[in-house]
Amino acid sequence: MYVLYTENSSAFFKKIFYAYKKGEVKMAEPLIHTKIIGRVMVITLSRSPAMNALSQELISQLNHSLRQAEADSEIGAMVITGDEKAFAAGADIKEMKDLTFQKVFAEDFIETWEYLSKCRKPTIAAVSGYALGGGCELAMMCDIILAADTAQFGQPEITLGTIPGAGGTQRLTHLLGKVKAMELCLTGRLMDAQEAERCGLVARVVPEKKLMDEALSMAKKIADFSLPAVQMIKEAICAAENMPLTQGIRFERHLFQASFALEDRKEGMNAFLEKRKPSFKNK
Ligand code: CAA
Repeated sequence: MYVLYTENSSAFFKKIFYAYKKGEVKMAEPLIHTKIIGRVMVITLSRSPAMNALSQELISQLNHSLRQAEADSEIGAMVITGDEKAFAAGADIKEMKDLTFQKVFAEDFIETWEYLSKCRKPTIAAVSGYALGGGCELAMMCDIILAADTAQFGQPEITLGTIPGAGGTQRLTHLLGKVKAMELCLTGRLMDAQEAERCGLVARVVPEKKLMDEALSMAKKIADFSLPAVQMIKEAICAAENMPLTQGIRFERHLFQASFALEDRKEGMNAFLEKRKPSFKNK
């Protein structure tokens, strides 16, 4: 039996301490680190020697932290980042090398990655260095991608004799259009941060040294707004990817009308008229 340990799971750690002493459990190596700054959880992929290759264990630890963030009413946004060299260089090729069709099909391999795209709180990918294959796909599952000027994006799976498996062909086509998605996926070419910004993959490019400051200040700004209003916006924009326009507009109107049930909506409008800063209670 393996047990996950992250910085934020000390209560859990205490509970299993005695079992560990008896040798009944083993500690899994921490492949991600989390830090809470105000209302923001920063999740850092920490597998530098392997360019943050996304092993199943790493994804499981990532999901564990995301679940904690989702459940914690004190968290209003998450930033996901890697290190200077790599956000993530894709799924772990060493781990995949000997897998068979029977196994990956039976276990629905890669399905667990989708948890990030199902989070209801906003997520920001702060990308420095390589975001390739599954790394690019993981970034695209976030709501906003902020890129350092050193960032490189690509779907090089074709060079390995396979194809993107965590949404690359789909999300790139939605974000960049068919022609650019075809070019990137069929050639495996990497694109730099400036090109990624021009074609709408990233929200903004910033100098590498300022990446985390910018990501944190963006996340803090979002996390300080009314969480239910933020979540309604996220839900409406995500729905736009799957709904025809007239249906999407109707969906948005219903969410807008629902926001009139929020105390925060009342507070925000009163604060504007009283020329003061609103004090949102996330209700
Ligand atoms: N999986 C496992 N290990 C990886 C890896 C990956 N995706 N990417 C890098 N590594 C490992 C390397 O094997 C190497 O390990 P060793 O030191 O043990 O040899 C270490 O990370 C450093 O890598 P390099 O020596 O290759 O570093 P580099 O600076 O020369 O090149 C790179 C960096 C361009 C990112 C290069 O490592 C590379 O091309 N990586 C593979 C990228 C890729 O093809 N990604 C797609 C994976 S498939 C996928 O993601 C499917 C999907 O859709 C889910």
